[in-house]
Amino acid sequence: MLHGVRRARGITLRYEPRPLLNLTAMLQGSIAVSHEERLVAITLLTGERYVLSELELQLLSALPSSHWLQIDQVPHPSARETAAPLIDAGLVLADPAEGAHAALRAREERFGAIDWDEYAAHYHVMSRVKDQDVGEQVVHAVEAPSGAPADSRERLQEYVELASSMSRSLAANAWYGPPPPHFHRVDNPREALELPIPRVRGELFDLLTSRKTIRVYDQANPVTAEELSTLLYYTYGAQSTVELIPGLVGIRKTSPSGGSLHPIEAYPLVLNVRGVETGLYHYSVERHALELLRPMTRPEAEQMVETMALGQSYFRSAHAVFILTARWYRNFWKYRRAPKSYRVIHVDAGHLSQTLYLLCQRMGLGAFYTGAVNDINIEDVLQLDPLQEGVIGISGCGRPLNGGAPLTLITTPYVPPR
Ligand SMILES: Cc1cc2nc3c(=O)[nH]c(=O)nc-3n(C[C@H](O)[C@H](O)[C@H](O)COP(=O)(O)O)c2cc1C
Repeated sequence: MLHGVRRARGITLRYEPRPLLNLTAMLQGSIAVSHEERLVAITLLTGERYVLSELELQLLSALPSSHWLQIDQVPHPSARETAAPLIDAGLVLADPAEGAHAALRAREERFGAIDWDEYAAHYHVMSRVKDQDVGEQVVHAVEAPSGAPADSRERLQEYVELASSMSRSLAANAWYGPPPPHFHRVDNPREALELPIPRVRGELFDLLTSRKTIRVYDQANPVTAEELSTLLYYTYGAQSTVELIPGLVGIRKTSPSGGSLHPIEAYPLVLNVRGVETGLYHYSVERHALELLRPMTRPEAEQMVETMALGQSYFRSAHAVFILTARWYRNFWKYRRAPKSYRVIHVDAGHLSQTLYLLCQRMGLGAFYTGAVNDINIEDVLQLDPLQEGVIGISGCGRPLNGGAPLTLITTPYVPPR
């Protein structure tokens, strides 16, 4: 029996335009579209949008979020009936609560325990996707890999067709106007001091200039457990630690991290590594160990990669991928409600990705990063609450097929004019 109610925390109200067909005009043989605006409530607890009626808006406005009100004492003409769908939607919390309602309350409590910047929280929750397929990839130059298995060649062919039709439709989209220029020019600089073009040689410079994204990997020649261990240790492993303030330990890795907090976690999905069982793992930085979460068959693991990477089927051939998540609570404990914290964490992930690229280049392996991921599918697999530990993207690696030529961007060397 429902006794108490209160408004859930983390609700945003906004007017959303809704296109409407003008039926009278349609019956008279013409098409006219008008735009009506409707009031929508979004709650962080579910990430869903809910169209509010006048009565529901009145109820939300009458409820506090900081304490419970007896349902019979809420100043509203039909509080009990109006509250019921709002409780299901996570906009109003109920006391006592059972089942799904209790789960929403628990989620709100966990959310309240972390000092999120609310704009960042909304962006994070509302930018997640589920079961989506990539449709916007444009590949600039591809080559059919001669040694590739038939089905992967077919997949490659499908991909090439998709990519070239995307390129054609982008080019045909005259209403976009011309694309923005590739080099930016500022207006009226006072002068331009042309700098000498560096000719420095050495391993690091060679690695930096030869780094590239590899998307097709050699199935017959998997990476070894030692290679995987090296990649994990020098990308995500702790090289040293320091007690920053009593109880708060900072970590130094090979990449920098805002506040030396290193909130990014790596969950290796091992597909094809000699000496390591196929499956989903957590990389324990503390122990430099792979913690097995779910043993899997190769086909299961390949399907998981494809689903997680928005249907980018070529990543099935990777030997191992690293699902990157962020432990928001680690950063927000120190940087409370800080609007920049959310952005800083993504920069951390970028550094880790580049480190993996350089290591792979040095070891004769290939690397990739994909930001096109089905976050919600990943959350389901890893059992994550997105406001506690959120999905960032996927890095991956393996031994390149044909030296890495298929599906790589082919570019022309650029030398600034002198
Ligand atoms: C943040 C980020 C997201 C990316 N997402 C994808 C992706 O979804 N799919 C993909 O095939 N490549 C992805 N890439 C790789 C880029 O396409 C690649 O870096 C770019 O084409 C330049 O090629 P290069 O890395 O070989 O220099 C991503 C790279 C970055 C940095």
